[in-house]
Amino acid sequence: MTLSEETARRRTFAIISHPDAGKTTLTEKLLLYGGAIQEAGAVRSNKIRKTATSDFLEIEKQRGISVATSVMTFEYNGIRVNILDTPGHKDFAEDTYRTLTAVDSVILVVDRVKGVEEQTRKLMEVCRMRNTPVMVFVNKMDREGIEGIELLEELEDELKISTCPFTWPIGTGNQFKGVYNLYKKSVQLFSPGKSTISEMILSSTDQNPAELEEFAGKENLRKLWEEISLTSELFEPFDYKRYRDGHLAPVFFGSALNNFGILELLETFLEIAPGPGSAEAHERTIQPDDKLFSGFIFKIHANLDPNHRDRIAFLRICSGRFEKNKLYYHPRLEKRMRFSSPTAFMANAKSSVDEAFPGDVIGLYDNGSLKIGDALTEGEVLNFKGIPSFSPEILKEVINMTPFKAKQLEKGVRQLTDEGLAQLFIQQPGNKKIIGTVGELQFDVIKYRLENEYGATCNFHALPFAKACWMTFKDKTQMENLLNRKASVIAFDKEDNPVFLAENDWMLRIIKETYPSVSFFKTSEFKPETEISV
Ligand code: G4P
Repeated sequence: MTLSEETARRRTFAIISHPDAGKTTLTEKLLLYGGAIQEAGAVRSNKIRKTATSDFLEIEKQRGISVATSVMTFEYNGIRVNILDTPGHKDFAEDTYRTLTAVDSVILVVDRVKGVEEQTRKLMEVCRMRNTPVMVFVNKMDREGIEGIELLEELEDELKISTCPFTWPIGTGNQFKGVYNLYKKSVQLFSPGKSTISEMILSSTDQNPAELEEFAGKENLRKLWEEISLTSELFEPFDYKRYRDGHLAPVFFGSALNNFGILELLETFLEIAPGPGSAEAHERTIQPDDKLFSGFIFKIHANLDPNHRDRIAFLRICSGRFEKNKLYYHPRLEKRMRFSSPTAFMANAKSSVDEAFPGDVIGLYDNGSLKIGDALTEGEVLNFKGIPSFSPEILKEVINMTPFKAKQLEKGVRQLTDEGLAQLFIQQPGNKKIIGTVGELQFDVIKYRLENEYGATCNFHALPFAKACWMTFKDKTQMENLLNRKASVIAFDKEDNPVFLAENDWMLRIIKETYPSVSFFKTSEFKPETEISV
């Protein structure tokens, strides 16, 4: 197969949701349909169990298991599907945000009982920033919950995306009888607890066949036709371009647990979801069928087990053909690197790969020279855009507890933050190190790893800030004034960009009034969508 044929047949996406909406269940069912696993339960291990939320070592053990499910690949009707796993635990949200930089589209799972939840909002914000095409799977239709039209309106209002139902539920909760496909004009009937994964397609239902009426009930069908006529007034019809541009989300209803509505979702996904697109670097736009190989690192997983202290860096291939044992160029370090055992992931099994193509994600064993955002090329200097740091929500100062180990501490903090475990900001005077994270758990991980891998002990001093905002200035004098006068709330990221440490939005507003030429951003990349309006 040629490079363009290989590229065109790849679909790389992530399934995202608020914890408990059904992401793991849906992932598993897609793998079952794809033949990548033979029995339910095989990917359950990628879920961090609720009982373990306060024990980070237990969580790490489970994350260790989940490395194998970081990318799950299967072939379906000639299409190579790469599902990128995202950690469900909210403390690892930044890991999820970064994974979203490596996908071409997402499936968002929403719990029909709970509707839009906190993580749903945050994840969609990241998707909007990147104009990622989104499909929505409304899960748990076997339970009572928010009605279809109301739920779609909630999605539109809260997630700021237009929706377009592809299927519509017939009855709900214990009266849930199936879904009507608005495009195929066909019905799939639902039998709770069905153990097979086949779904029944009944044929066209324009005339309410007696068989359907008998199964679904007269009242449910009446409601279905009524709601369908309303949906055409309330929601947009499907528009391919609007979906591809991330403005319109096709919506499917079903029940992952009961294997229902998944085939519809999968087949439509394969029909309309985009393949690998272009990638932006500061130097140029990279097209997937550019002959020369290029890719970037978006995630690093370090094994905490002292007997197997390895690191796997996850590389998304953007162009060309990646080959095992070939010498590639690492522009940041200006050196050549060879990878002798690149790894592909297949459900729970790891296997060595000889070659990989745009859209694929492979794992590279690394001893500490790769960091998040790094490029690998065939010699060209490329600095990929679109792998920003996101504003942390918890900020703490690192206090060194063993003064003669200051060097080890410094090295450890730099390396761990290069892995993307947390962010590092430096504040003057005194070279204070401030660690920023999305969750508390990372502080335990950092402390543990500094002690066990670098022999350095530290404590953390909580700071009153809830945000670190990157800044641009139209007026240089205002910038100098702000940096000088507000040094106690200014720090610098690892690339030496100033960030404003804010307790709340009110602080930002006050600063903006005094220094009107400043703009605040919630990511280290300055895009209009990431500007904070104050
Ligand atoms: P997550 O990865 O998004 O966190 O969610 P997960 O798939 O683990 O699902 C969360 C809970 O919701 C699980 O129950 C799961 O069985 C249930 N669930 C998933 N899909 C459906 C559905 O379509 N209908 C209903 N009624 N429930 C569904 P649990 O009791 O928390 O876990 P488990 O003991 O079943 O593993």
